[in-house]
Amino acid sequence: MKIAVLPGDGIGPEVTREAVKVLEALDLPGLTLFDGDVGGIAYKRHGMPLPAETLTIAKSCDAVLFGAVGDPDCDTLERHLRPEQAILGLRKELDLFANLRPAKVFAGLEHLSPLRPEIAKTLDMLIVRELTGDVYFGDKGQRGEDSQRTGWDMMSYSAEEVRRIAHVAFRTSRARNNKLRVTSVDKANVLETSQVWRDTVNDAAGPHPDIELSHMYVDNAAMQIISNPEQFGVILTGNLFGDILSDLASAAVGSIGLLPSASMGERRTDYGIFGLYEPIHGSAPDIAGQGKANPMATILSVAMMLRHSFGREEDAVRIEAAVEKALADGIRGGDLGGSHGCEEIGDAVRERL
Ligand code: IPM
Ligand code: MG
Repeated sequence: MKIAVLPGDGIGPEVTREAVKVLEALDLPGLTLFDGDVGGIAYKRHGMPLPAETLTIAKSCDAVLFGAVGDPDCDTLERHLRPEQAILGLRKELDLFANLRPAKVFAGLEHLSPLRPEIAKTLDMLIVRELTGDVYFGDKGQRGEDSQRTGWDMMSYSAEEVRRIAHVAFRTSRARNNKLRVTSVDKANVLETSQVWRDTVNDAAGPHPDIELSHMYVDNAAMQIISNPEQFGVILTGNLFGDILSDLASAAVGSIGLLPSASMGERRTDYGIFGLYEPIHGSAPDIAGQGKANPMATILSVAMMLRHSFGREEDAVRIEAAVEKALADGIRGGDLGGSHGCEEIGDAVRERL
């Protein structure tokens, strides 16, 4: 079981360290970890945010555990040298087109949500975001000067790109098995890209008659996620809308420090599907290196890794149960209004495994 560990910047190294300790505590057969630099730290050491060596390591493994990238020192660099290019490059190079972002309110933490508790407790959705297409990867550029200065980013989706992510959404909806419901989010009232998206999702739904498919415009979806979250099971959407709605959903949960994510493609390994796993919070440079970060989102990302890339459902459930138990026992990071430190939270989860 080969895992590439890419801690990255800010709080990335500290949360990743705790997650690795949880992974090691499971005593898995043949577990081998390989370290690599990504993000601002990679730029500082190697002159680029995603060094070729890191990419080679990632490609040779069965899964990648990723911390976070982003470093204020690098914000004025040319775009291709900025830390964010590391994660965009990994997604593209590894063809990780399917991003799974679960958002649910943990029992007992309803009060952390900015929503009323009776609404918050119904929030349990999975955002399936397309990750290698859309306006993120289209032709882009700038021309002209002063008041004529113009920037552009081309948005497009091919039917094939939409079909493969739609199938992931339908399959995952069935695996979740709580609400057999997929809401596809687009802007088909304005965008041609969205018309192709919507028509293709309708076609892809053919083999899944048991799953209730509906369509929603993205502006309405933003409103519905916070006013009536109960209606959502799986939300299927494109790269840009998924970026925005997944932050909205995590803010509705109330703690970004608890939410994991998986990014997968179609490549199979000896154990499951190759994937990259990361907490959805960023590098949080303001608290980096102080031992204050909550490692739970990264620990839960390890659970997703064991489930999807290694077929170890039981170990995944063990980790999730240990995190839930730690929360129920009052273990809280600063993000949850508590004072437990990063290592302390990691230890607390390990004790409960
Ligand atoms: C995310 C992040 C990235 C994105 C950034 C860091 C490029 O916001 O994973 O949601 O926009 O996809
Ligand atoms: Mg984002």
